[in-house]
Amino acid sequence: MATRFSSLAKPQGVWWRALGRDERLWVGIAVIWGLAMFVMITAIWPLIGEQQNWIRSYRITPAEFRARVDAFIAAYQVGERAGVPVVAPPPGGDVYLEALSFAWRPVIQLRRGETYRFLISSRDVQHGFSLVMAPHSINYQILPGYVTEVLLTPEQAGEYPIMCNEFCGLGHHLMLGRIIVTD
Ligand code: CUA
Repeated sequence: MATRFSSLAKPQGVWWRALGRDERLWVGIAVIWGLAMFVMITAIWPLIGEQQNWIRSYRITPAEFRARVDAFIAAYQVGERAGVPVVAPPPGGDVYLEALSFAWRPVIQLRRGETYRFLISSRDVQHGFSLVMAPHSINYQILPGYVTEVLLTPEQAGEYPIMCNEFCGLGHHLMLGRIIVTD
C-alpha cells in the first residue's frame, strides 16, 4: 500500500510557505492588541477604572475559622432570622462570614457609609461569594483553608442577597446569605 497520505510519512515537496505580507500584518495587530489588553487589565482598569477590588488572603484551618465566626456571633448577635443569627458588628469593624453547604453564616447587619473588613472562608468545599450592592459588584472564590479579605462600604440602605456563584453540590441554588444595611 502507498504511504503517501499517511500522517506518519514526510510530506512531499514544499509543503509550507513563508507568511505573506497581509498575514504578517494581522499577526502583528493581534500581538499588539494582546499586549494592549494585558496592560488594560493589569494596570489601566484597576488604577483609573476602579474595577478591581484589592484583596488579601491568608491560610487558616476550617475549624479555626469556624471558632472565629462563633466568637463573632457570640459578641455581636442582635437577632435571628429563619434560624440564622443576625449579627451587627461595630461600625468599621471586622465581619466574619462562613460559607458552608448550603448556607452563609451569619446574616450581617451593617451601617450605611461605614467601611467594613469582610473575612470570608469556607467550612467544606469551594463556594463563590457574589454580592451586587450598587455601586459594588463583587465576586470571589471562597476556599476552605483560606480567608479572603474584602473591604466593603455600603452606600445605600436595604437588603442584599449573597449568592453562591460556584456549583458546590445539590443545594447550590439554595445557598443564599443576606446583608442588611441600615441608615
Ligand atoms: Cu456554595 Cu454553590
